[in-house]
Amino acid sequence: MIDYTEKIPNNVDLGRDRGLQRALEHWQPAYMGWWYDMGPNESHNYEVYLRTAISVEADGWAQFDYVKMPEYRWGIFLQPRDEKREVNFGMHKGQPAWQEVPGEYRSTLRRVIVTQGDTEPASVEQQRLLGSSCPSMYDLRNIFQVNVEEGRHLWAMVYLLHRYFGRDGREEAEALLARRSGDADNPRILGAFNEPTPDWLAFYMFTFFTDRDGKFQLCALAESGFDPLARTCRFMLTEEAHHMFVGETGVTRIIKRTCEVMKEHKLEDPAQVRALGVIDLQTIQRYLNFHYSVTLDLYGSDVSSNAANYFTSGLKGRFRETKLEDDHLLSEAEYPVYEVIGDKIVKKNVPALTALNERLRDDYIEEIADGVARWQRVIDEAGIPFKLTLPHKGFHRAIGNFAGHHIGIHGEVLTAEAWKKHEHEWLPSAEDQTFVQSLMTGRVVEPGKFANWIAPPLRGINSKPLDFEYVRFN
Ligand SMILES: [Fe+2]
Ligand SMILES: [Fe+2]
Repeated sequence: MIDYTEKIPNNVDLGRDRGLQRALEHWQPAYMGWWYDMGPNESHNYEVYLRTAISVEADGWAQFDYVKMPEYRWGIFLQPRDEKREVNFGMHKGQPAWQEVPGEYRSTLRRVIVTQGDTEPASVEQQRLLGSSCPSMYDLRNIFQVNVEEGRHLWAMVYLLHRYFGRDGREEAEALLARRSGDADNPRILGAFNEPTPDWLAFYMFTFFTDRDGKFQLCALAESGFDPLARTCRFMLTEEAHHMFVGETGVTRIIKRTCEVMKEHKLEDPAQVRALGVIDLQTIQRYLNFHYSVTLDLYGSDVSSNAANYFTSGLKGRFRETKLEDDHLLSEAEYPVYEVIGDKIVKKNVPALTALNERLRDDYIEEIADGVARWQRVIDEAGIPFKLTLPHKGFHRAIGNFAGHHIGIHGEVLTAEAWKKHEHEWLPSAEDQTFVQSLMTGRVVEPGKFANWIAPPLRGINSKPLDFEYVRFN
């Protein structure tokens, strides 16, 4: 169970380590300062119907109650330790999992933890203004739930930094509160986390695409030979599932509403669809293209010696590593990557060890494709002849083998001029964004009411009705 009588709720027996407890209690006010500055705008007095973890067991996860977000019980929760756990891949395979950081991997591991940790506050910053244009009280509650849990994910990484990395770790923990998404001088570490999330379509796309990158990174780190990292990530994954649910169902509901209106009025022309106050499917496709492509970049270079080193050292595994049937060393295996040669995209086999970023990206793409197929079903069921497509993975990429090339939506290698001609067919234009935002000028907060551009969800949170008062504004 989690001890909530402590100033910092935890299941790691924090009270036994006075030095660590003091260090974290010192960081806590700085974190609160960050939350007041960069957390959801004007929300500090709201009482929000939130879930809080009460134990890390699968069945005892959540307790729902009204909470003022600054009073949310952020804390440190690790999956319980399995005494028999081993390092399951790489050169240390078969050794007992490490309970302390191996000296030779200290800086690498710190870098991995900081890079993951940096994404957590970043997304809160990206989303901080969206409360003022929410489509319903239900959705407002959901974004707040995502925000407090991203805050907790930051806590999860900061615990590891403080507990295992001494002074360097404490400095990194401070720096995590100092960087700002999109800041010119001190931006967040990864590109997608410096992009604005200016409207709710972008928010749902972000939680579908980019939180799912979070899932895959956490899955890879949950395989780590460094056991505290693995256990931390396992618990974070249970929270991540809700974020992706919010994204997937959010987009589903937008598509559903658009299709309803198209059917009712028997029209397909995007301008006419827009005139009825819903988002045309073409614009949804362009948002999809954008979020998908910037998220693919988060996996890094297709061929990467860093990725190989992380694996060989036992720090970062593959997706579902222990379920895979091979030597878990990748000494002989090969893996296909793609390269642009002239005006062609050419497949090339490389040592699998060096292609681990690409492999994780491919695992991710598979799951994304399933989600997009579920969105398509909504369109098909409405009988509307429109196909959502997942762009070619080289489309609009800034990192890896496709960077610097102009790859079209179907994988055609284009000249800069040809790309320019299609750019706004494929990616949201300023005008698209202005339109989407024009639908979201105020918030809809009457219980049970939903903005015109989105369908209600199938059910409420924690079996509450749709007209439940999910947020009390005070
Ligand atoms: Fe997260
Ligand atoms: Fe998340």
